[in-house]
Amino acid sequence: MGLQIQKLSYALGAEIIGIDYSKPIDDKTFGEIQRAFVEHSVLLLRGVPFTREEHLAFSRRFGELDINRLVRRPGLPGFPEIIVVTNKESSRQKVDGGSIDKSYQAELWHSDASQTLIPATASILRGIEIPEVGGDTMFANMSLAYETLSDGMKKIIDGLECIYVGRGARIDDSTPERLAETMRLNRIAHPLVRVHPESGRKSLFIEEKIEQFVGMTVEESKPLAQFLWQHATRPQFVYRHRWQKDDVLMWDNRCVIHKAVNDYDPAQSRYLERTTVKGLPCGYVYEGL
Ligand code: SIN
Repeated sequence: MGLQIQKLSYALGAEIIGIDYSKPIDDKTFGEIQRAFVEHSVLLLRGVPFTREEHLAFSRRFGELDINRLVRRPGLPGFPEIIVVTNKESSRQKVDGGSIDKSYQAELWHSDASQTLIPATASILRGIEIPEVGGDTMFANMSLAYETLSDGMKKIIDGLECIYVGRGARIDDSTPERLAETMRLNRIAHPLVRVHPESGRKSLFIEEKIEQFVGMTVEESKPLAQFLWQHATRPQFVYRHRWQKDDVLMWDNRCVIHKAVNDYDPAQSRYLERTTVKGLPCGYVYEGL
């Protein structure tokens, strides 16, 4: 039986049905998955009994994996390409080497590794422990968001660049030189409108924490930035994923922003593991005010 591709919402997302996980995924099937990924931007594979090694092997077929040097949470011991996404402090403490970070940036609309010079292509998240209810992840289609703006607004925003401040990044203070370099890399400018290298569609590249555009003050920038991410995350551009154990969910950070919804019983465990596929170099270090 061939693959079935079932849409998850009008705006984005599709479930891929019909993969036999007891055998390696052959090149033809993988090609279909890749095409569906470009077309639907979020893909769901259900009931996938991946081990960590299989999660890594599947992810590597999409490209080189990030080893998470620039994000707050380092990779798992022995698996530097896998980061833990959890509400369990004991697990965070373990992967953080002692420092528990209670602020969870993933609850804001964002795109993975956006605060670096190599923003991510795909993120591939595996659901391992899922709360009884709640703890969903939401995704917004940034191509539709761009395409539905007026021509006047498109003209205003087409040459703008957003300043991404690396608030989610780990500060390397091991030497004064490393600290200076980390701080220098802490502000990255990216184009507000990007062209998807595979679909050719233009999309907005903005997230909830953006406060400033290059060449504009924070006061001038904030209302426009807020309008844009709020426009992009209107219900008609959004898919909300309700997790099941053994879901593998992957999304295209080049044209999707996402956020975690913290609406579940904190006594229950939410534990997922993520790999991140590196994208093409983009942006520059912003040294202005
Ligand atoms: C993430 O941003 O990678 C995590 C999303 C989630 O926790 O649902």
